[in-house]
Amino acid sequence: MNTIAPVIEDFRLPPERVPETICEALDDEERLLLTNRAKELLEQENAVIVAHYYTAPDLQLIADAAGGYVSDSLDMARFGNESRADTLVVCGVRFMGETAKILNPEKRILMPDLEATCSLDLGCPPEQFNAFCDAHPDRTVVVYANTSAAVKARADWMVTSGSAVEVIRHLQDKGEKFIWAPDKYLGEYVQSQTDADMLIWQGSCVVHEEFKAKELLELKTAHPEAKVLVHPESPASVIQYADVVGSTTAIINAAVDLNAREFIVATDKGIFHKMQEAAPDKLFIEAPTAGKSATCKSCAHCPWMAMNTLKKLVNSLETGSNEIHVDMDIIERARRPIQRLLEFAELQKWQIYGANDA
Ligand code: 13P
Ligand code: SF4
Repeated sequence: MNTIAPVIEDFRLPPERVPETICEALDDEERLLLTNRAKELLEQENAVIVAHYYTAPDLQLIADAAGGYVSDSLDMARFGNESRADTLVVCGVRFMGETAKILNPEKRILMPDLEATCSLDLGCPPEQFNAFCDAHPDRTVVVYANTSAAVKARADWMVTSGSAVEVIRHLQDKGEKFIWAPDKYLGEYVQSQTDADMLIWQGSCVVHEEFKAKELLELKTAHPEAKVLVHPESPASVIQYADVVGSTTAIINAAVDLNAREFIVATDKGIFHKMQEAAPDKLFIEAPTAGKSATCKSCAHCPWMAMNTLKKLVNSLETGSNEIHVDMDIIERARRPIQRLLEFAELQKWQIYGANDA
């Protein structure tokens, strides 16, 4: 049974605010100067970069070269938790910075741009979410990582795309029923894999929602040997054509492990940098969106991830601006659902990076 939760607005950025490219327009000299300055500041501040795969290659390269880390949202949290650095510079979106702060309240958490958020987070305001939970007190509250600290503070469990199915199965075995928020597509996917009783909040990702099933089928027909890799924030109509459905890390691993040369990839195109690095001999093709002329405003690249630039990174490190702060009261409550996930993964020795063959 699904009850529709109270939401939905259009959270897409106006076209003039959507960055055109993944790479910042810099000439080679400027790029080198900024890169060297960022590395110098990271060392001076005992800081490391924790970056998501969707951010600019410039940032990922510095993270890798300067003791930092590039990964999916769960592993970013885990790396930050284990890091000895005094400052974590989270290159990603706001909920990732908040998660780092919740797990490491004693550390300074900086971000290149505090306006970098996520349509799933925006689409799940804490007051409305609390009211929804209050109306269903008998249900276990499971929230996706892509939520604010305040929403996590209300949750029993946090999950990520790489862990959602396993956590719901584990709790379902104990007879639990769920409130799920905020991503309706991921929620529907989890439900299709588990048959769990879930009340699903109706949020969505502006990037993954744009992938188009009919055009994907046409592309797949034109590339009969290609494997289709899909992030589960995509609609079920797209997931139906997937060879593998999984987190960003699972998608990269599938590109390396599968015995295929061509891949059609339905997730943010920022991931292509790491995919190409991990599997240099393989060919990666973007899954179709509606294109700029139609409804697509994000066109397979998250406008908020794109706000993380090299210039802003250097500025944040130089000035200490864009620090993440979370109320201590929220930190105390939000830590529990996150820790549960980290402990569950550890205890089960569970393969969070395993993708689900569709
Ligand atoms: P992953 O945890 O799979 O990296 O997903 C995060 C995200 O925001 C995808 O859009
Ligand atoms: Fe949020 Fe989608 Fe951007 Fe991921 S790609 S951060 S889910 S808006």
